[in-house]
Amino acid sequence: MNSSTLGEFLLGRPGDFQYENAELGRLLNAIRLAGKVVSHEIRKAGLVDITGTVGSTNVQGEEQQKLDIFANDAFINTLTNREIVCGIVSEENEDIIEIHGADNRNRNKYVVVMDPLDGSSNIDANITVGTIFGIYHRISPIGTPVTMEDFLQSGNNQVAAGFIAYGTSTMMVYTTGNGVNGFTLNPAIGTYYLSHPNVTIPKDGGIFSVNEGGYVHFPQGVKNYIKYCQKEEGDRPYKGRYVGSMVADVWRTMLQGGIYFYPESTGKPHGKLRLLYECNPLAFLMEQAGGKATNGHMRIMDIKPTDIHQRMPFFGGDAKMVDKAMEFIRLAGE
Ligand code: AHG
Ligand code: MN
Ligand code: MN
Repeated sequence: MNSSTLGEFLLGRPGDFQYENAELGRLLNAIRLAGKVVSHEIRKAGLVDITGTVGSTNVQGEEQQKLDIFANDAFINTLTNREIVCGIVSEENEDIIEIHGADNRNRNKYVVVMDPLDGSSNIDANITVGTIFGIYHRISPIGTPVTMEDFLQSGNNQVAAGFIAYGTSTMMVYTTGNGVNGFTLNPAIGTYYLSHPNVTIPKDGGIFSVNEGGYVHFPQGVKNYIKYCQKEEGDRPYKGRYVGSMVADVWRTMLQGGIYFYPESTGKPHGKLRLLYECNPLAFLMEQAGGKATNGHMRIMDIKPTDIHQRMPFFGGDAKMVDKAMEFIRLAGE
């Protein structure tokens, strides 16, 4: 393969980083390393199940961990040991994680928000799962403990964001606000190669992706939009595709076009997806790929979070399709 490796790519694009280059480069390196550790573990999942189920002890006498806890530990340990961030918010931890540094004076500039294993209920069915991450420059002064405010920043402030997808191959896809690039892991040598340069969402996708099981509980505008997608007229009906791993659904949307949405419903008044570590990073990617991401009313990345685990409806993908969905919501007066 002639394409550049992720390491070479990072070195060749110093202008990509809004702030000090080396520190953010090291941070992305830590993320790609933890991704390899998780990828390796996930590839064993089927085999491990032969010798024991989650929560039991395997033949080596090691305690088997649920994969989302394994992924959480892998990312937290890598970021902590390398002392390159001052704090982390993870889906798996109720509170913010403060990283003190060896001499108790953390001098790092960045905080990370992450969903260590997205789509984890799909693991047993051998379906793609992923890790989602967003990186922010801290607001509080360097050398002091991180604060809630460092994490409650709008998505507009993301310095970088991306995901690692553990699918038929392992991929790392990220943006620093200068387009989206995707790298595929060659597992034989443990190196990611640039496989998807400058990803752009195609305009003629014609795929809609939503869990239609929730249909009767969706707001009227969303119901009307789904009926519109199904209607035989013009380029419709659109194809329906739904993996149930946001990472996989968003990546397919970025490559093949279409719209992915997770609306609010009567049982879930704010939808299901988390603003900080699911919606914002993937909204950043979609916008950088020429698409759009909203909550049905406004841009995801303009929303000022009030809680680190806050949920938010999500409509992302081809800008025209997202606009259409928003039009139906508006028309229904919701
Ligand atoms: P997680 O595994 O991190 O809890 O996230 C799962 C999320 C998202 O990946 C996916 O799109 C959505 O939940 C699926 O939810 P439904 O089963 O309600 O469709
Ligand atoms: Mn998730
Ligand atoms: Mn998760």
